[in-house]
Amino acid sequence: MHDNFCQDLIKVLKSNNMSSYTKTSIKKSDKVAHFQQDVWSIFTPLAAQLNAVNLGQGFMNFPPNDFIKEAARNAILIDECNQYSHPKGRLHTRQALAKSYGPLFNRTLDPETEVITTAGANEGLFSIFAGFLNEGDEVILFEPFFDQYISNITMNGGVPVYVPLKPHGDTSKIMSSRDWKLDMNELRSKVTPKTKLIVFNTPHNPVGKVFSKDEMEEIAQVAREFNLLVVSDEVYDRLFYKPDVHERIANLPGMWERTITVGSGGKTYGATGWRVGWLIGHKELIATALSAHTRVVFCVNSPLQEALAVAIEYAETNDYYERNVAAYEARREKLCKALSDAGLPYTIPQGSYFILANTAKIQVPEDYEFPEIIMKRPRDFKVCYWMAKEIGVVTIPPSEFYCEENRYLAKDYVRFAFCKTDETLDAAAKALLKLRKYIKQ
Ligand SMILES: Cc1ncc(COP(=O)(O)O)c(C=O)c1O
Repeated sequence: MHDNFCQDLIKVLKSNNMSSYTKTSIKKSDKVAHFQQDVWSIFTPLAAQLNAVNLGQGFMNFPPNDFIKEAARNAILIDECNQYSHPKGRLHTRQALAKSYGPLFNRTLDPETEVITTAGANEGLFSIFAGFLNEGDEVILFEPFFDQYISNITMNGGVPVYVPLKPHGDTSKIMSSRDWKLDMNELRSKVTPKTKLIVFNTPHNPVGKVFSKDEMEEIAQVAREFNLLVVSDEVYDRLFYKPDVHERIANLPGMWERTITVGSGGKTYGATGWRVGWLIGHKELIATALSAHTRVVFCVNSPLQEALAVAIEYAETNDYYERNVAAYEARREKLCKALSDAGLPYTIPQGSYFILANTAKIQVPEDYEFPEIIMKRPRDFKVCYWMAKEIGVVTIPPSEFYCEENRYLAKDYVRFAFCKTDETLDAAAKALLKLRKYIKQ
């Protein structure tokens, strides 16, 4: 069964890994030498190779709204937008963010000191870690985590420490992301004198959990008691489904002084390639992140910051957020129905655009042959590869979002992204029906 396709795939995967092509005696730094091939560069080319329906990586395959594209088109015509911005970000963008987010943080935000723009949420996170971590400082993360955190932390000398979210209830049935919970005693047990910060994400990728105020208060208690910084990754803050409400940990008592909130224009405005994000928080915390940010990128690309400012201002007046949530809610329904029809249990997300499906019931043929790159990874990689090839739908194996010792927790799950057109979701629904004959009841 090791057919031409497998050979082609191996070539594609190898060509993504430059080290296998380039002969050089120049050694990598220890910071990057241990990085494994990332999951995106395995499964995104696989989707293209197989012409499979791609519900893997979380990018939209539909365009941003016209008002957003128009804002970008117009921005390049403003001459000053073609030059460097202030490292804090364009004043117009900081003002738009401060105006839009002030009421959400129950305060008047100062665009000069409490808001900066970053090159996507990613660079904002990197700059926070660069600004606050010393060699050996420990960072508590909740699993499953957004995979970039780890490299951003370790490249800055930090040591990740893990606390898994665990599903409570019958995982062979449809669940809610509300059922995935943290063990707060376990969280407390992981705090040491070296702990410097907690990374927290709500709405959550990939579980879709929207943490309740009570859950946040428990995390906040730990942060206050042990004097920890909280990095609150809220890139999906405008994407939560009724009756759930997105709460902000920075708004809890005593938390403004110890929380930096991270945002992303890419997620909210359907333009992940723009790479414009932001940080909001207490002025001293923002000043520290800014000092690193200035030395990492100096400033963010100016035209798309300007476009973001215009998009934010316009979004406030045209029900954009409500329409966006309604559109995502319809996509969520479509994918949930497709999974139900295929016979797969799953976790209904309260927010974000991901669904974790439980694949324990899928019987992948025992003699199925996998390329080496998949063979040495956990079961979820094998299920994802097999599903891509035999069912025609690409998903992401979530064990990638766990530390080595906790990967087993994800072996029975795959992650679907539903930030996709109706046409794509319908094609996925049709293909997923092929799963039925492989599911044991
Ligand atoms: C939880 C989470 N944080 C941060 C990011 C990065 O956002 P950006 O594309 O703005 O860098 C992502 C993107 O997938 C994400 O899912």
